[in-house]
Amino acid sequence: MKKAILIGASTGIGRALAKVLLSNGYKLGITGVEKEILNEINHSSDKNLKSVFFDCTSEQSSMIIDDLIDWLGGLDLLVFSAGIGQLDKNQGYTIENEANELNVMAFTKIADKSFRYFESKGHGHFVAITSVAGLKGHRLAPAYHAAKAYQISYLEGLRHKAINSNIPITITDIRPGFIDTGLVNHRHFWIATKEKAAHQIYRIIKKKKNIGYVTKRWVLIALILKIIPHWIYNRL
Ligand SMILES: NC(=O)c1ccc[n+]([C@@H]2O[C@H](COP(=O)([O-])OP(=O)(O)OC[C@H]3O[C@@H](n4cnc5c(N)ncnc54)[C@H](OP(=O)(O)O)[C@@H]3O)[C@@H](O)[C@H]2O)c1
Repeated sequence: MKKAILIGASTGIGRALAKVLLSNGYKLGITGVEKEILNEINHSSDKNLKSVFFDCTSEQSSMIIDDLIDWLGGLDLLVFSAGIGQLDKNQGYTIENEANELNVMAFTKIADKSFRYFESKGHGHFVAITSVAGLKGHRLAPAYHAAKAYQISYLEGLRHKAINSNIPITITDIRPGFIDTGLVNHRHFWIATKEKAAHQIYRIIKKKKNIGYVTKRWVLIALILKIIPHWIYNRL
């Protein structure tokens, strides 16, 4: 039985992915910050599922992850799905920096912790949900786009490290477009349900891909964002 930890899974994409992993035979430790939802999940009769409260920006991240690994009896996969975005408000430094604490600082701590654990065991798979937003800066949420660009680059660095040390650690960068969760409060074009996103993410994980766009058609937007001249992009 494969063992996984899913960080940021009491709601949104993480919650939907937890259901898919469980239905595919994983033993799963999930974390979130919504205490009521976590309690409800713990009262379900699934003995292969445990949920714990975990604010990733707190100091105890290492201890909480270690406890979950003990309960699981090992770890094959860690998925970092926690994230905050202020997608349509110009809220300034204080709020943007709160998001950075999760999207940059906590992400780095957990990615590094996971990599070191997998390195010590000689194998493993770290997955982070980044975003197509990480491919380009944008006026609506400069810090969110910048944080996602940081995550994308950090994952590339970890992958480079794994390959160069000849350790079979897979690093997967999942880049969603628009998924219908609490993070997105408008009907955007090509918006997908979290269930559809979760199934596509699971397939990407299973294939151990380096990068996956969710939904798949977002690869087209990614290509456009990579080649669009600045003078056109700046007018959009
Ligand atoms: N939705 C989209 O269109 C979209 C597009 C591109 C990328 N993404 C990325 O996908 C990931 C998941 O987002 P989502 O759409 O599923 O949004 P969501 O429903 O708001 O989920 C965000 C998750 O982050 C967790 N979280 C927030 N603050 C936290 C903290 N301090 N410590 C630990 N966990 C915390 C939340 O925990 P609780 O569940 O306990 O609240 C929740 O599970 C994020 O990284 C987001 O940037 C989303």
